[in-house]
Amino acid sequence: MIRPTKKEEVESLFSVLVFCSLLFCLLLIAAPTARAETGADAWLRYAPLAPNEVLEYKSVPEVAVASGESAILASARTELVRGVRGMLGKTLRLTAAVPSESAIVIGTADQIRAIAPDFRTIAGLGDDGFWLTSHRIRGFKCIVIVGGSDRGVLYGVFAFLRKIAQHSELWPFHSLQQPSAPVRWVNEWDNLDGSIERGYAGRSVFFENGGVRLDLTRASDYARLLASVGINGCAINNVNVDPRILGSDLLHEVARVAQAFRPWGIRLGISIDVSMPKTLGALDTFDPLDVRVAEWWQKKIDEIYRLIPDFGGVVVKADSEGRLGPAVYGRTPADAANVMARALKPHGGIVFYRAFVYDHDLDWTNPRNDRAKAAYDIFHPMDGTFDDNVIVQIKYGPIDFQVREPVSPLFGGLGNTNVGIELQITQEYTGQQRHTCFLIPMWKRILDFDLRVDSQPTPVKNVAAGVRFHRRIGGYIGVANVGLDQNWSGNHLALANLYGFGRLSWDPGLTSKAIVDEWTRLTFGNDSLVVETVSKIQLASWKTYESYTGPLGLQSLTNILGSHYGPAPESQERNGWGQWIRADDRGVGIDRTVATGTGFVGQYSPQVQPRYELLANTPDELLLFFHHVPYTFRLHSGKSVIQTIYDLHYDGAERAAQFVSQWRSLRGHLDDSRYRDVLGQLSYQSGHAIVWRDAINDWFHTLSGIADGAGRVGNHPGRIEAASMELEGYVPVDVTPWEDASGGRAVECADPAQSCTAKVRFAGKPGRYDIDIQYFDQDNGVSQYRAFVGHRLVDEWLANASLPATEPNGDSSMRRAIHGIMLRSGDELRIEGRPDREERAPLDYVELHPD
Ligand code: GCU
Repeated sequence: MIRPTKKEEVESLFSVLVFCSLLFCLLLIAAPTARAETGADAWLRYAPLAPNEVLEYKSVPEVAVASGESAILASARTELVRGVRGMLGKTLRLTAAVPSESAIVIGTADQIRAIAPDFRTIAGLGDDGFWLTSHRIRGFKCIVIVGGSDRGVLYGVFAFLRKIAQHSELWPFHSLQQPSAPVRWVNEWDNLDGSIERGYAGRSVFFENGGVRLDLTRASDYARLLASVGINGCAINNVNVDPRILGSDLLHEVARVAQAFRPWGIRLGISIDVSMPKTLGALDTFDPLDVRVAEWWQKKIDEIYRLIPDFGGVVVKADSEGRLGPAVYGRTPADAANVMARALKPHGGIVFYRAFVYDHDLDWTNPRNDRAKAAYDIFHPMDGTFDDNVIVQIKYGPIDFQVREPVSPLFGGLGNTNVGIELQITQEYTGQQRHTCFLIPMWKRILDFDLRVDSQPTPVKNVAAGVRFHRRIGGYIGVANVGLDQNWSGNHLALANLYGFGRLSWDPGLTSKAIVDEWTRLTFGNDSLVVETVSKIQLASWKTYESYTGPLGLQSLTNILGSHYGPAPESQERNGWGQWIRADDRGVGIDRTVATGTGFVGQYSPQVQPRYELLANTPDELLLFFHHVPYTFRLHSGKSVIQTIYDLHYDGAERAAQFVSQWRSLRGHLDDSRYRDVLGQLSYQSGHAIVWRDAINDWFHTLSGIADGAGRVGNHPGRIEAASMELEGYVPVDVTPWEDASGGRAVECADPAQSCTAKVRFAGKPGRYDIDIQYFDQDNGVSQYRAFVGHRLVDEWLANASLPATEPNGDSSMRRAIHGIMLRSGDELRIEGRPDREERAPLDYVELHPD
């Protein structure tokens, strides 16, 4: 063994030190982006500001003064300390005493006056509102955060921290904010077994195995997130209710959720079913006009309030999609709502009665039938008959959370009733969080829409807020469905919809751009490239998604009988669900006019009707929702309907591909872990956009028989169908629906226990190629794939994504992209699939693109 000399030892120690300090420097340089982030902190990261930025906030005092005992004020104090420490690196001293230096003073006006008797609050500061101001106390300039209530104080603290996190000017410190509407709720469609109806982010934060989870940490973290954007209520269970939720045992457990919510000012709500007096109680009826039923509800509601004194109210889905309702006894929704409202009234609770009531067994052969008319037909005649603690909860459009719908005319038809607008944050029909689809621009169109009731300005946002018809309560309800996934929504970018819902219900006047910029700064930091790029992607995403799915008012064109995810236009038609598009070989769209159609247009005010009744006035984007036209009909754009469908699908898929390259430009500008997560998600989206593009275009092409003027539809240079390759062990299979696979067919391994191969000889121009492999990733197996060029393995992967399919179809279709592979004439391209369980390594096609 050769021993190192002393000099060598010193030298080697020196080089280790140099290496370590270099490494340290590198880590330091990389520090702002190195923090691995899971997304669990969402927009409340309180990431440290750079030292020069911290300096700009040197006027932020060292001490915080807060009195008041409530749990909400305690949250406000803790949050203030946490935020300032995270961002500015200093730990505020907390005191309740009169400050003898500059301080941040938080509290209600009364609490602040106890410290500063000369403090005058501002006119217009109502419940839940806050005022950020400054005031001299004992000669020291103080930052004062005044709330109209404890909740207002908490909201004010969050607003103050938001300012710093966005690195915006603190002074002049003056901002009075009041929420637009008193009700700002979310609904969670969580089931008692822990699954979530239309949830795309893991299991429930509230329930598991039939009861409430023991660990409610995430439930309380969720409440904090909600409070930070001004949300003040949350109903925690599925509107398709399991009656056990009101069982006495479970109510005790539910009270623990209310306890987790309380410090954040979130009132708990429960979805209930009107049949509960019979299904849960021992009555032989649930007729709302039966006194025994009224007594049953009163007792149950009293029991709830004994356990949860600040209980917010109940959400009701009745006579809808198989749920029982008052119609069973020939009673009205008002009868059903009022019996509960009267039980809740003494406690200050609210009934949210959903207007999502329709017959899902409509006769599709009758051209006058129209599901879109149901809510107005049922609820408008009852205007004025609901008790004053009932809110009729109306989905934004007349159908069901589609990618585009006109405004529900019911917002103009209930002038003597409290209403709330129901928006869907969870992306049920808009890509299920695997696709980025920022919904704020869509919601803003709805909220800004002027229904012109009695020829007066009637924007939907003023109806929801209660101001248009002078209602005491009203507001916003968002179906959120977050889950236990670390990042809450299954996709980092999707959380912008929850943030935006809160911000918009607080102030519907905020622009989409302002909301997304704010969210991006809080979520990913203030790097201008990040803010600009994320904003660009998010703001383009809704129209992009609409373009490659169901444009021109066609609605979502997804599989409405199953997953609500991949393309399946045929599923809309010829069934009782009423989401028809009435496409045939000559034309497409539903005639909803008064003159010749279903008459739906007649539900709008006389000033709005001409906009939709007349073809010439109807905006292109909703044309096929209101009119049946030939494929050759020319839009305002001058293009035919069919060519527009083709073009939009190509444009949309192209834009989805650009999201990937835009996102790539952010490498190194944010933490690697979220960078990679989003890159993966956007890449998947861009592949799935092509599945959508081809499925919808092929379907319309086959139906209409009209060729794409640009020659793209049905014509895919470089595409090699798997079924046409040389197969060993693979056999061709028909895919259902046919349009979800290229040429309607795929190949699968015949023997579930044997690997199989598909090969082809390259006969094109030698050069470098990108190879796209379209395959199917079902949820009932994890197949393995390997791709070879000659003997060289060029890629291998597992089909282990979580997608809502157990068959090869548009839900499971996925694209694997292999970049920059050198191909020479005669090279053999071979794909090996190894099946697993029910998934037989299905393949659709291979596509070669010159690099
Ligand atoms: C949609 C959704 C259902 C949900 C329903 C509702 O139809 O697919 O899962 O129950 O809306 O809003 O009640």
